[in-house]
Amino acid sequence: MDLDRRRKPIRKAVIPVAGLGTRLLPITKSVPKELLPVVDVPAIQVVVEECVNAGIEEVIFITGRGKGGVEDHFDYNYELEQILQQRGKFEELERVRSISSLIRTIAVRQKKPLGLGHAVLCARDVVDNEPFVVLLPDDLISSEPSVTKQLIEVYEKYGQGVVSLMPVSDREVSRYGIVTGENWAPGLHRVRTIVEKPDPEITPSRLAVIGRYLLPPTIFDYLEGLEPDHTGEIQLTDGLARLARERALVGYEFSGRRHDIGDKLGFVTANVSYALRRPDMGPLLLEYLRRKVAEADADGQ
Ligand code: G1P
Repeated sequence: MDLDRRRKPIRKAVIPVAGLGTRLLPITKSVPKELLPVVDVPAIQVVVEECVNAGIEEVIFITGRGKGGVEDHFDYNYELEQILQQRGKFEELERVRSISSLIRTIAVRQKKPLGLGHAVLCARDVVDNEPFVVLLPDDLISSEPSVTKQLIEVYEKYGQGVVSLMPVSDREVSRYGIVTGENWAPGLHRVRTIVEKPDPEITPSRLAVIGRYLLPPTIFDYLEGLEPDHTGEIQLTDGLARLARERALVGYEFSGRRHDIGDKLGFVTANVSYALRRPDMGPLLLEYLRRKVAEADADGQ
């Protein structure tokens, strides 16, 4: 691996938000899944704050039909601000304003549902010729430092693209990109192969790619040359496989707790776990949960 320390800084993040959220229907029929709450904050804000805290300067949303609310959330809302001002609700005013000034945002429309690889390719002109991060907002990961920051630290050390990895069970491999490679240091792998959603019977390993990536701009050339797979989608995984083959790709087993909020149970557990960490409601919620567990135990459930 390359240990040259002169790296281009990571300034841009691509966040695909065009997905339909079919696993969360019916709520996602008219509400973008990215705006569903983590307690009282839209999930997309949690992900954008992860970018801000990692030093990212610009977020590029890859949007689709009905996702205008995602852009609106990071824009100023003069009417609301004026009303809050007039009513003397200064704390709320400050909270609403601070979201608008969090970071520069750009929206690029993905006009056809051609998959994650195509969504990332839509960012090409805006990202230009620099390395960038990709965050899939279905994956909420709590850790200190954040996984995006952890990926940037790995990149600064080795100068190559990095994907975040997590071991999963046999049953779960068919939901993820799965990698094989050589483990050369604790938690670090040189990725050799990566396949999208293999059958559990023929999976090459149980190391899954989770929704945080740090990619060199060459990924765009690889994605552009790809044909849609049997599902009709252009897979980011296929672009990553070429990157691993023709250049290099680091797999990094991150530390942190991950919630898949594109899934109903994951959405609920994310809310419980974020609420438990909040001083304004954590202790009360814990008390409630203890009571529920005791009741369930008494009922023999
Ligand atoms: C996508 C990627 C997959 C990756 C997963 C992480 O799948 O295609 O390789 O493992 O995100 O969450 P999706 O969840 O969009 O089906």
